[in-house]
Amino acid sequence: MIFVTGGAGFIGSNFVLHWFAQNEEPVLNLDALTYAGNLNNLTSLANNSNHHFIRGNICDSTLLNRLFNEYSPRAVVHFAAESHVDRSISSPESFVQTNVMGTFRLLEAARSYWSSLQPPEKDGFRYLHVSTDEVYGTLLPNDAAFTEKTPYAPNSPYSASKAASDHLVRSYFHTYEMPVLTTNCSNNYGPFHFPEKLIPLMIVNALAGQTLPIYGDGQQIRDWLYVEDHCSGIRRVLEAGTCGETYNIGGWNEKANIDIVRTLCTLLDELAPANDRSVINQKTGAPVQHYAELITYVPDRPGHDRRYAIDARKIERELGWKPAETFDTGIRKTVEWYLNNQQWVAGVMDGSYRDWVAQQYGSKKT
Ligand code: NAD
Ligand code: DAU
Repeated sequence: MIFVTGGAGFIGSNFVLHWFAQNEEPVLNLDALTYAGNLNNLTSLANNSNHHFIRGNICDSTLLNRLFNEYSPRAVVHFAAESHVDRSISSPESFVQTNVMGTFRLLEAARSYWSSLQPPEKDGFRYLHVSTDEVYGTLLPNDAAFTEKTPYAPNSPYSASKAASDHLVRSYFHTYEMPVLTTNCSNNYGPFHFPEKLIPLMIVNALAGQTLPIYGDGQQIRDWLYVEDHCSGIRRVLEAGTCGETYNIGGWNEKANIDIVRTLCTLLDELAPANDRSVINQKTGAPVQHYAELITYVPDRPGHDRRYAIDARKIERELGWKPAETFDTGIRKTVEWYLNNQQWVAGVMDGSYRDWVAQQYGSKKT
């Protein structure tokens, strides 16, 4: 079995769903169910006895040691993190706690378990740390894309906490020869993306006639990858990556934020015309004709990184990985998913996705 952390979040839940779509190897899924964890992402696994969900915190060493000994995983895939840059700016502490201390505790528990193994289990064990391109800092317009050799220069409390965790993981290979792998991926998009992030926020706001807030001049560039392609890249690194190495994962899809939002508006005009849905501009009270009318420029994010771009040639060359989706196919699928899953969206927006947690675990344990 494999041990996944953060498997009720955006990428983690996509990873677990795709894992079971490909094979039956059991998954131990540990997630604290913070505001970002949503068990509705995993409802299709309700009757899958190979999915073992545990609500718990990666900072809890006692729990981690118990889980390693009880489930004897052959690998760890570590997604759990505080992931939203804006939240890291207003409240950085939980980022240090989860991303740095949590990763440290998970590494320690994994090391203790791995040290107790005998060959061949010991040689086959893998610890895959899921990280981000944001650790490399920001690029100028003509700079070459980030490679695995680009020096770290994180600019937000989020990226600094992820950089710290990457360094800890690296040190466990060099010091203890623990079989670790690190992936650094660009911006993901796709199903189950929490609507605090750019793409789902814009879709949800547009359909509700709310403004579409563009930070600063909207010319910041992100490099977008469909989430399923990120998951296939992680699976590939897990099965064939060289221990101690890092792999950048990206789709060669650099886009300015304002262009992303305009693309979303155009797709929504086609797939869910505002006229047909009687969408009202919540600010002016006027009927919306085209969703782009809702675009509003707002003050910039402090320390906002201007450009990210991933050079993905290493994983392509060494592991033969390539994304399956282009940006055009992936973004259309994403918009269609949000239109077809309004109940999921409603559950997030009215907070009812948390009700199950309260029922299941009670207020004392939350
Ligand atoms: P997310 O915020 O959607 O999900 C994080 C999950 O971790 C949630 O289910 C949450 O409940 C859980 N979690 C948080 N703190 C925890 C703790 N202390 N113990 C146990 N579980 C905890 O994040 P995401 O966007 O799915 O990102 C997953 C990973 O991928 C993160 O490590 C992130 O840094 C990395 N990453 C994200 C992107 C992206 O575009 N979203 C890109 C590259 C890398
Ligand atoms: O690059 C990978 C990273 O991508 C991940 O490590 C992070 O976990 C993930 O959250 C994401 O970080 P970003 O800050 O790039 O994503 P976000 O969706 O918050 O913002 C994308 C861009 O859009 C960014 O330049 C800020 C801008 N933005 C965002 C929001 C929420 C807006 O202009 N308006 C908004 O309302």
